[in-house]
Amino acid sequence: MTFTVDALDGQHIVISGGLGAIGMAVVAALVRHGARVTVNDIVPVSEGESALLEAGFDPSQARYGYGDLTQKLQVEALLDKAESYFGPVTTALCHAAVVKAAPLVDVAEADWDNMLDVNLKAAFLLGQAASRRMIAQGIHGQLIFTTSWVGAVPWPEIGPYSASKAGMNMLMRTFARELADKGIRANAVAPGIVGAGMALKQWNTEPDYKRRASKAIPLGELQSPESVADAFVFLCSPASRYMTGSVLLVDGGCSLYPMD
Ligand SMILES: NC(=O)c1ccc[n+]([C@@H]2O[C@H](COP(=O)([O-])OP(=O)(O)OC[C@H]3O[C@@H](n4cnc5c(N)ncnc54)[C@H](O)[C@@H]3O)[C@@H](O)[C@H]2O)c1
Repeated sequence: MTFTVDALDGQHIVISGGLGAIGMAVVAALVRHGARVTVNDIVPVSEGESALLEAGFDPSQARYGYGDLTQKLQVEALLDKAESYFGPVTTALCHAAVVKAAPLVDVAEADWDNMLDVNLKAAFLLGQAASRRMIAQGIHGQLIFTTSWVGAVPWPEIGPYSASKAGMNMLMRTFARELADKGIRANAVAPGIVGAGMALKQWNTEPDYKRRASKAIPLGELQSPESVADAFVFLCSPASRYMTGSVLLVDGGCSLYPMD
């Protein structure tokens, strides 16, 4: 990464689901470039704070904010907490997600609801609450959504997840359209098949997934979380200042292939 270490100076970034596998790499990269980060997740406060300390983050750089972001009141509480740590939020990173694999004919209603709630509804709630505050505080900030290459490609057995990511891309584009005249931008990062977190779990536990995934990456290797983090550093930096409404595809070419 060739951005200077002060590329994100003055930024206060809130990331949902930030204690996850990719999230921690993103937080590390944001902090390394000068941002202060409020890291949200759903583990108890003592556990979240310990996780950040153990990962080597100084509390002057990264603090933990508990909240199940499918709940509007908890989204507001998170943003109150974040402002008490580091002042107004300049970027809200809607990153939390869950996946449960099954063909669509077998998907249980509760699993559909859970994936759409955590992935799409929570992104809407955080994007809405953060942008309302940016408008009230006169912040020319940004909303960034973590979507996926499967938001545009029908990868088997994760239909509700893919639908949620497609929905997030349109949510992002609508925020971008509606907020542009207020100086607030919205963009998305769409990673490929990452060798960490939810994809690695599927790779390790579902032989059929591993068989398909091992043939689906034109660049030939699983994506590193650091390569996802680099895309966030770019989008959070002034280098992206003329971008709004974009899906930044960082997928090693996965979406170029017809699926087997
Ligand atoms: N791993 C991949 O290959 C891959 C590929 C493309 C996109 N992504 C996306 O990257 C992001 C992170 O994925 P990951 O692989 O690191 O997964 P992960 O499971 O390691 O992290 C997800 C985090 O979200 C948190 N979370 C769950 N429900 C929540 C809620 N209601 N409120 C707040 N936080 C909640 C979890 O506790 C977890 O820490 C997700 O948006 C995912 O869809 C991942």
